[in-house]
Amino acid sequence: MKIIYTHFLLYGSMLIMLVVASVIIPDNALYADPNAFNRLMKPPSERNPSPAQDGIHDPESAGVSSLQKPRQSFGALPKGKSGNYVDWVKALEGGDIAPRYDRDDPAAEPVIMDLNIVREVKGSMPNVVYPHKQHTEWLDCSNCHPAIFIPQKGANNISMASILLGEQCGVCHGKVAFPVSECRRCHSQVKQTTASMDKKASAQKEVTQ
Ligand code: HEC
Ligand code: HEC
Ligand code: HEC
Repeated sequence: MKIIYTHFLLYGSMLIMLVVASVIIPDNALYADPNAFNRLMKPPSERNPSPAQDGIHDPESAGVSSLQKPRQSFGALPKGKSGNYVDWVKALEGGDIAPRYDRDDPAAEPVIMDLNIVREVKGSMPNVVYPHKQHTEWLDCSNCHPAIFIPQKGANNISMASILLGEQCGVCHGKVAFPVSECRRCHSQVKQTTASMDKKASAQKEVTQ
């Protein structure tokens, strides 16, 4: 009898707690905007807000109103698929922008290195081609070497998990360069097609039979 009574107390109080919880937490407060955390999925009307609304600049500052609005300044640049919707590599290559390489020296030229590093990826995902050229047009070797990457092919254990956590390529991609959602810009070297692999596999099967 005592055991039944304590069970009744336990389950009874759990039931009361559930009822109370569902009353005090309104559904719409929790689920109003399921994408609020995901800045990659903003509707076009909310992309590239003006400096006073972007959450980066201090809206109280007098200088904010003198900054050009991104939608105005980006309007003439080649379109990108995500991030701030500008293809900055094309903008640089096409001469639409001419960023200063050295803040203090307007005549300084970048040291451009044209060397691609191919990182083979297991499974069906295309291999990653890391291009030095497009990076060294903007960046100095010391932006990556040796703090982010040891300058030796294969010396770094790069993984998608650490990129998504904001390390390795993720130090910049998703922050100041195109975001991680654009898989095929990095995974750009297509491997053998599955059809040709199937052919090979069936040919091998025939040999072993
Ligand atoms: C945006 C980052 C970044 C910048 C900037 C950068 N590198 Fe690299 N570098 C890499 C990555 C990634 C690798 C490949 C490492 C690996 O495979 O583990 C690499 C590899 C190398 C290698 C090894 C090549 C090989 O075949 O073993 C050398 C040498 C190198 N970089 C020199 C430079 C020089 C010189 C500069 C400046 C002109 C430079 N890097 C700028 C990211 C960068
Ligand atoms: C220090 C910052 C930095 C790091 C680290 C970095 N990138 Fe980039 N990356 C850039 C910038 C800046 C651009 C040019 C702007 C843009 O495209 O958004 C760029 C552009 C690219 C492009 C575009 C080339 C094109 O032709 O469109 C590829 C591909 C790329 N990065 C791959 C990688 C990979 C793979 C890694 C890691 C091995 C990496 N990046 C690490 C800053 C970086
Ligand atoms: C900024 C460049 C970049 C982008 C964008 C990117 N990747 Fe990667 N990815 C890499 C690099 C670098 C590696 C490591 C390759 C290696 O050396 O093994 C990698 C590895 C992988 C691997 C192998 C397993 C692992 O976790 O290391 C998978 C699968 C993968 N990526 C899927 C994706 C998918 C899906 C997307 C798009 C949602 C994506 N990647 C976008 C650069 C990128």
